[in-house]
Amino acid sequence: MADGYMLEARGLTRRYAGFTALNNVSFALREGEIRGLIGSNGAGKSTCMDVLTGRGKNPIGTVRLGGEDISKLSQRERRAKGLSRSFQKTSIFPDLTIREQVRLAARNAELDNSEEVISELALSSIADRLASDVSYGDQRRVDLALALVGRPKLLLLDEPAAGLTVEESLSMARMLRDLSERWKLTVMLVEHDMEVIFAICDRLTVLHLGEVLTEGDPESVRSNPEVIRAYLGSSFA
Ligand SMILES: Nc1ncnc2c1ncn2[C@@H]1O[C@H](COP(=O)(O)OP(=O)(O)OP(=O)(O)O)[C@@H](O)[C@H]1O
Ligand SMILES: [Mg+2]
Repeated sequence: MADGYMLEARGLTRRYAGFTALNNVSFALREGEIRGLIGSNGAGKSTCMDVLTGRGKNPIGTVRLGGEDISKLSQRERRAKGLSRSFQKTSIFPDLTIREQVRLAARNAELDNSEEVISELALSSIADRLASDVSYGDQRRVDLALALVGRPKLLLLDEPAAGLTVEESLSMARMLRDLSERWKLTVMLVEHDMEVIFAICDRLTVLHLGEVLTEGDPESVRSNPEVIRAYLGSSFA
């Protein structure tokens, strides 16, 4: 990682039958950075995460993780290299206990840190309950726990706080910030809640119609007229 970047993406592109969902998107994240990926519905945020993880057909572009080119690797191989993600919709199994599913995820990981992850995400007191039996807010923390199994280097989170109350969202944001500092975890976070974004992100990348509109620190992005016009609206002016 001679240049100090944990993640370097160059020219990420995805076309669906003539429609370009992602067009020549590039960015680079330093180790331990929390990067917010924002933009309107359909801007290409989830598609960007798909291409980074090697999901779907014909990913175009170069992805480097810790300096190593992983562009040709499968999703599973990228996960083994330390690239983890959570999905926009919950991916937990309702019929398993929380502990059972964290352990199940850990079976594929080199490092079994199930108990650490359960305690870090404040799931200890409910770990033996069925996932279907706990609150929605707890389920979203289980999603995060599953993505943290094996202590990944890079975590891609697609709206982890969607549907949570403001209080639950900010509590999750604080957990993430804390973990990222202690584990040197690099995070790319898709989030619509600007309070969460501004509370924890070091830098933001703004996508618009599949392209990078701008990138910068939260304050400069917040006051960028183009971003306000395309995404944030006048309430942030
Ligand atoms: N499998 C697919 N086939 C065709 N078009 C797709 C497919 N997946 C995504 N798209 C289109 O690509 C564009 C980007 O979608 P994407 O899901 O990446 O947006 P997003 O920024 O994650 O939006 P949201 O905030 O709603 O989650 C959209 O216009 C979407 O309709
Ligand atoms: Mg999305």
